[in-house]
Amino acid sequence: MFSRYKKDPNAKPVAKAKIADAPVETVSAEAAQEPQTSVLRRPMPKARAQAVSSDKERKRKERLSEIKLDLHRELLDNLNLSALENASENDLRNEINAISTEVLQDRAIVLNREERNALFRELYNEVTGLGPLETLLQDDTVNDILVNGPQQIFVERSGKLEITDITFKDEKHLLRIIDKIVSAVGRRVDESNPYVDARLADGSRFNAMVPPIAVDGSLVSIRKFKKDKLGIDDLVNFGAFSEEMAAYLQAAVATRLNVIVSGGTGSGKTTTLNALSSFIDNAERILTIEDTAELQLQQTHVGRMESRPPNVEGKGEVSPRDCLKNALRMRPDRIIVGETRGEEVIDMLQAMNTGHDGSMTTIHANSARDGVSRLENMIAMAGIEMPIKAVRSQISSAVNLIVQASRLQDGSRRMTSITEITGMEGDVISMQEVFRFQRTGLTPENKILGHFTATGVRSHFSERFRMWGYDLPAHIYEPTLG
Ligand SMILES: Nc1ncnc2c1ncn2[C@@H]1O[C@H](COP(=O)(O)OP(=O)(O)OP(=O)(O)O)[C@@H](O)[C@H]1O
Ligand SMILES: [Mg+2]
Repeated sequence: MFSRYKKDPNAKPVAKAKIADAPVETVSAEAAQEPQTSVLRRPMPKARAQAVSSDKERKRKERLSEIKLDLHRELLDNLNLSALENASENDLRNEINAISTEVLQDRAIVLNREERNALFRELYNEVTGLGPLETLLQDDTVNDILVNGPQQIFVERSGKLEITDITFKDEKHLLRIIDKIVSAVGRRVDESNPYVDARLADGSRFNAMVPPIAVDGSLVSIRKFKKDKLGIDDLVNFGAFSEEMAAYLQAAVATRLNVIVSGGTGSGKTTTLNALSSFIDNAERILTIEDTAELQLQQTHVGRMESRPPNVEGKGEVSPRDCLKNALRMRPDRIIVGETRGEEVIDMLQAMNTGHDGSMTTIHANSARDGVSRLENMIAMAGIEMPIKAVRSQISSAVNLIVQASRLQDGSRRMTSITEITGMEGDVISMQEVFRFQRTGLTPENKILGHFTATGVRSHFSERFRMWGYDLPAHIYEPTLG
């Protein structure tokens, strides 16, 4: 029955994985006692350690998961994994179904059709794909997947993190899936190389850190690749910024201002950068440089580069700076760097200053001012010894606009500020905020209330906009009263 894919009986037996003792969630005595809170402080909501599911549902899942574990081990013991690589999808499905049916019969386990199908599907995912992660990767409503050890998987949906009831069997199982992902891109992760960045076959960004550095089991984060990136219209409709801001940004990008998108982790920097790039003329030659290619430009003339970390022996690195230096020799009209975080800042500023205006990048910072300090720090860290005034003057003549992306406490992502860099006053870089998100309050459901408004300052670049044919009406600079 196990025909072609059955293992050679003389082959060395596969060590059976030990089943982890399923953690039993019990309410501890301390937790049961209500702590006394001060009258000034609000009581903290109780941490929810597990996804809510009915008792019956949970028992059913536990039973299915036990059967799956057994079957999975049986499959691994019986299938010849190297022969599987050449098997067609149909062959493989049939083989998995056949072995599973036999085992189920042997053990007199009766499942309904739905359960059987779910079980076969999961086993197939396990053998060919990324196991428990596969369902989440296929779920289009999920943006991010965050694994904190084998028993806890969080996902982000509509800006909110939620725990799932999906788990790995044990750390060994999780490690096997991590290994599968990283070995597909020629990397390795183990005790001596405990963390790794990789890109999944579908373009999703993947990062993993394994024990002993990850204390309670491997940590995995996946930023799902969105085939249909959010465009300017989507972002305006979602309330990420206003129509007036969109019109201003169009003028800024089209008239080749150098733009930096600043923001915290997962605040929507790459999404904003991608959306802004849609304002670039189709005739321009654009070169993009990223650690993991995420940008999806709509233009025809685009050259994409992906930097490469060193391999296991510490060789073969191609840094973002190497890519950037090379890009400058490739006659670009504009250069877009996915994220500037190190010594490439020097070349980026130089490019912006020397004929590649209209270039864009993102940085990790919490405000426009903070963004400028980050740039100063990066220059200092790159070992460039220049007086601070010279550094600032370099920054102020290179960067025209800082767009601040934020993920607010209610999970919504908004462009909270658009700030222009207007020059230097003494030793200080002068800036003016042109648009901002004005918060006005909080609903009882903790949703943030507020509106976008101009600050009343007319753009420093108005004349440039007009000369280039982007004559923005004066009213877009008038503050909106909330
Ligand atoms: N305005 C928005 N509304 C809803 N979802 C958004 C918005 N902006 C971005 N997202 C989603 O949020 C997630 C994070 O966005 P993005 O990758 O752009 O963030 P980032 O700041 O570049 O993150 P990182 O710091 O990890 O590089 C993505 O899944 C994206 O689709
Ligand atoms: Mg990003």
